[in-house]
Amino acid sequence: LWEVDSHDPRDGELDEAAAMLREGGTVAFPTETVYGLGADARSTAAVERIFEAKGRPSDNPLIVHISDRKQLEELTLPLEGESAILADRLMDQFWPGPLTIVLPVKPGAVSPRVTAGLATVAVRMPAHPVALQLIAASGCPLAAPSANRSGRPSPTLASHVRDDLSGLIDGIVDGGAAGVGLESTVVEVDGDLVRILRPGGVTAEALREVAARVDYDAVAAPGAGIAASAAADAAPSAAGAPAVEAQAPRSPGMKYAHYAPQGLMHLVKGDADAVSAYIEAEVGAAKARGERTGVLAFAEHAARYDADCVLVVGSLAQLETAAHGLYNALREFDNRGVQRIWAETCTEQGIGHALMNRLSKAAGHAVVHV
Ligand code: TXA
Ligand code: MG
Repeated sequence: LWEVDSHDPRDGELDEAAAMLREGGTVAFPTETVYGLGADARSTAAVERIFEAKGRPSDNPLIVHISDRKQLEELTLPLEGESAILADRLMDQFWPGPLTIVLPVKPGAVSPRVTAGLATVAVRMPAHPVALQLIAASGCPLAAPSANRSGRPSPTLASHVRDDLSGLIDGIVDGGAAGVGLESTVVEVDGDLVRILRPGGVTAEALREVAARVDYDAVAAPGAGIAASAAADAAPSAAGAPAVEAQAPRSPGMKYAHYAPQGLMHLVKGDADAVSAYIEAEVGAAKARGERTGVLAFAEHAARYDADCVLVVGSLAQLETAAHGLYNALREFDNRGVQRIWAETCTEQGIGHALMNRLSKAAGHAVVHV
């Protein structure tokens, strides 16, 4: 475990970690979104250790992290025409930053385990001084999924990585709390169109300022997890999942259950007072059955609840705070042994879109409309 200053890692401080990566090791490191678990993307042996440590399905490809746009030439084939112009514009505007772009892979450039057999590779340049310095010092393009056990909430602190992967990886660079708190936005470029495959740190609104057209893969569209409603008495299960999931998502990771706390979770959507009243009634009934109850609330409403564990996810007035706090809160419910959880919802504008996407996945798409 190396503890470093997240804004300004000192010279040489990352050398040991970089050497480990060069030699085929696995090292977790902070990015501006969540912690990643890095390995040399060119080495199948190294990349296999990521899949093993995470318990990750092998058909789910990895994002390759770079520190310099020059590395793109080694990894990808050039796009043509309008797509090339748009991809360049996205990189100019959003790199380094929480945007992952799916590009045609140069044959043989990365291990086939990274791309899971696709003809494309997802690439991103993270906006975190520690990540950028580590990638540069290692001299490797780094394959790095989120540094959690598959299915668990992504890690936003080094302690989350330790909780999930201790003994399974070679090292952790601790650079304090990750920034955004949700993963990057994954997009593909098609002529003058940007298609969002996974909502994340760069909002659709921000992409629209650069691209003539922005649309969504079905599973990534606003409302995909929430609007497809479950009845008020529905249990969170495949039955509550929206029909759009029947179609294979273009980003393979989107088909997996994710982020789920151990307790049974429902999202509750509707007028704020009706939501509070419904949750309080449910909490009361669950307590009477002897269950340990939890509520995930926005700061503005938290005082309304009297569950065993009321966690503030962030402020409705500043949804960035909720994005930052979501995964830590989901982990905290587990730490406190909560058995039933109700969560408030918010708008799907801006970062609210990625926030509701992750929250509805965590609830297995069980949404109660009140
Ligand atoms: O913010 C992030 O993106 C974090 C940090 C560590 O960079 N990484 C991350 O990686 O979230 P991971 O592995 O948890 O999610 C990668 C997502 C998955 O949904 C995967 O299916 C998708 O990216 N992906 C990777 N390669 C792809 C490709 N060639 N085409 C489509 N989707 C791809
Ligand atoms: Mg992940």
